[in-house]
Amino acid sequence: MKYDLFPVQVVRHICREISSKDRKDMMDSVDLQINKGHYQKGYLTPKYQTEYTLFQDNCPSYWQKLKKSFYDACDYYIKETGFAGSSYGGTGYTFTDSEAWAFKSYKSLNESQEEIRNTFGIYSPWHDHSPAYLAGVYYLKDPGDGTTGGTDFHNPVITRRDVIEVPPVQNSWIIFPGWLQHRSVTLDVEDTRYVVAANMYSKMQNQSPYNDWEDETPQSPSMKNLMFPQL
Ligand SMILES: [Fe+2]
Repeated sequence: MKYDLFPVQVVRHICREISSKDRKDMMDSVDLQINKGHYQKGYLTPKYQTEYTLFQDNCPSYWQKLKKSFYDACDYYIKETGFAGSSYGGTGYTFTDSEAWAFKSYKSLNESQEEIRNTFGIYSPWHDHSPAYLAGVYYLKDPGDGTTGGTDFHNPVITRRDVIEVPPVQNSWIIFPGWLQHRSVTLDVEDTRYVVAANMYSKMQNQSPYNDWEDETPQSPSMKNLMFPQL
């Protein structure tokens, strides 16, 4: 499914190979990491955000399945949109690296984060994932009615101020360019919302001669040697 947002497209990929047992294991894994203190402690980082470890080589099988679905979803994005050929003047691409992390939130937890709301006016600030080539959000558990609690996207045409929300669909990825500004839409319910965010790094082939970083291999800037918390 393709959403034509502004001059940019967002694509949704349903993960039919991910079972309800896999999702339960993922939520237990997120809970365990948070309980062990493996989450971002910055006072302007919305709680709870795990470390960037979910797609590490030593991650458990259910995260490996999600990682494969993310690569499939990114391939699907490129096929649907022609993004690989048009954005960098290249004729092909190679995925070089990826990383993923999770968010866990609920109403009273959101409301406890006064510093974030006082600074940004909202509980989830606008941001992008540069220098990632593509970024994704996987809706692991959506406790709402499906009409909101998804992801807001901001029109990249700077003279415009419009915002479009892509709704959450449980067990699906949405994929978008890493530079596109977005924010998570918080839900006003006490039941827990779980989402996974991911970055894809890529190297283009046959790039335009105007592109001078052909020999670089973009990679995740995050830490790679963290211990993966085991259940
Ligand atoms: Fe994001």
